[in-house]
Amino acid sequence: MAIGHASDEPGFSRRSFLARVGATGGAGAMFATMGALGLAPSAEAATKTPFQPPRPSDFSLRGRGAAKVVVLGAGIAGLTAAYELGKAGYNVTILEAQDRVGGRNRTLRGGDKLTEIGGATQHIGFSKGQYMNAGPARIAQWMTTMDYCRELGVPLEVFTNSNADAYIYNESAGMTAPVRWRTAKADVYGYISELLAKATDQGALDQRLTATDKERLISFLTSFGAIRGRADGFAYRGTDGRRGYSVNPGAGHTSGTVLGPVPSLSEVLASGVGLRFSFEFGYSQAMLMFQPVGGMDQIPRALAQAIGHGKIRTGSKVTKITNLARGVRVEYQKNGRTSVLEADYCIATLPPHILAKIPHNLGANVQAALATPVPESTGKIGLEYRRRWWEEDEGIYGGITNTDLDLSTIWYPSSGYGSGGRGVVIGYYNFGGNADRYAAMTHADRLRRALDQGAKIHGEKYRQGVASSASIAWTRQPHIEGGWIGWPSRGAEYALLNEPQGNVYFSGDWLSYEIAWQHGAFESARKVVTELHQRVLKG
Ligand code: PHE
Repeated sequence: MAIGHASDEPGFSRRSFLARVGATGGAGAMFATMGALGLAPSAEAATKTPFQPPRPSDFSLRGRGAAKVVVLGAGIAGLTAAYELGKAGYNVTILEAQDRVGGRNRTLRGGDKLTEIGGATQHIGFSKGQYMNAGPARIAQWMTTMDYCRELGVPLEVFTNSNADAYIYNESAGMTAPVRWRTAKADVYGYISELLAKATDQGALDQRLTATDKERLISFLTSFGAIRGRADGFAYRGTDGRRGYSVNPGAGHTSGTVLGPVPSLSEVLASGVGLRFSFEFGYSQAMLMFQPVGGMDQIPRALAQAIGHGKIRTGSKVTKITNLARGVRVEYQKNGRTSVLEADYCIATLPPHILAKIPHNLGANVQAALATPVPESTGKIGLEYRRRWWEEDEGIYGGITNTDLDLSTIWYPSSGYGSGGRGVVIGYYNFGGNADRYAAMTHADRLRRALDQGAKIHGEKYRQGVASSASIAWTRQPHIEGGWIGWPSRGAEYALLNEPQGNVYFSGDWLSYEIAWQHGAFESARKVVTELHQRVLKG
């Protein structure tokens, strides 16, 4: 997956200033400086990109009028651009090819119809109250998405991204049964600690460590890996409860039976479980994470409500974009009829590979730039079970099982915990070649394969009790044709599309450093709204 990584903002920020103080003066100097700035004792938080929404007074004070803007696409970027411009009274119209808003932010519920390119159609049969987030499904606390949820009154709940009781399953390493994350971590941390403590104690790191460093490192490793003392060679034995229990501790003399047998160091390395750990260290994947109560589409719903449904023309597919000396002209088709909309400015938020198919007069460089990003494949299947067996039988309340099977991950629902009712498990959420493989199948075949693969982890019951299911292959979604895009590099093409081309602006997560996150779309929309508004104010 070629997903962009956020890099530090260049230039002088409060954060880089403090980092420099920290580098030269040590933690004490940094803390003192923070105190002087009024920042201590709370820990440093990253600076958010400042944003001031356009206000009606911006116009009344300068004697200028709000412009007319046509927004292409009612995904998160398009809706946000319209919402923010609307705050100052801009005359905004959104053209959306689909009959719904949200773009890739889509929650599937009973009664929904899901049609793929080629015509295959699923009539979603989830029971009342059950749903799957087919697109975005998790939000990190630092993301701008959280700020929009607060502003729009969208209630949030915890999304369980990592769970010690969910599983890791690496079939190619010869595993015949899944391992709980907690067990995998106990063994990997334990053996790594044993090795490092031994090497440290035997002097292998004397070039790097003082005698005090060595003692402190060994005391850390003893706690981190739950290893024995020097007399026992710092051995990892896996005998404390970290691995989990085969008989839980209970009353009276039931002290519990620690899960065994403990695999050897060599077996643990061969299992590859440790290679899974780093995902939850990432800035955008670390717990706590959040989801809107009732489905991710509460966000576009609230945005559309705030914008006003009258300003959103659904079923309207853009067929031509013409930049004019003053303004823009957009042609679109609705119900087989071509209409024209003229405006002062256009904000195009469609995916770049879709825009590249629409005739325009923006020039060969723009066309080449739009054709540069590469769409990437991703897909999911939702399995509604009549019984929450993952909770009742396996003690897994939310979280994700990670595998090397082509299903890649299994997600347990982060709502309705312990309700004893139904629940929708995501039976695969995968990327790249794995997603392509499922995308090429009919829904019935996707379901069959997902159940066959998942049964390797959860056993026969996984095949039983599925009340209904729905699958999405994002490369096969009309007007979208991809999960997200990857830039081969953020070169001249990226820079070009981040600038207005005449009266046409581009916006979307694909023009951000958080591709494949709503955060990227929100930030990109704010950037373009700010630039457009400043231009209108200058006249
Ligand atoms: N945001 C998507 C997710 O949460 C896609 C993604 C995956 C983005 C991994 C970055 C890293 O799964």
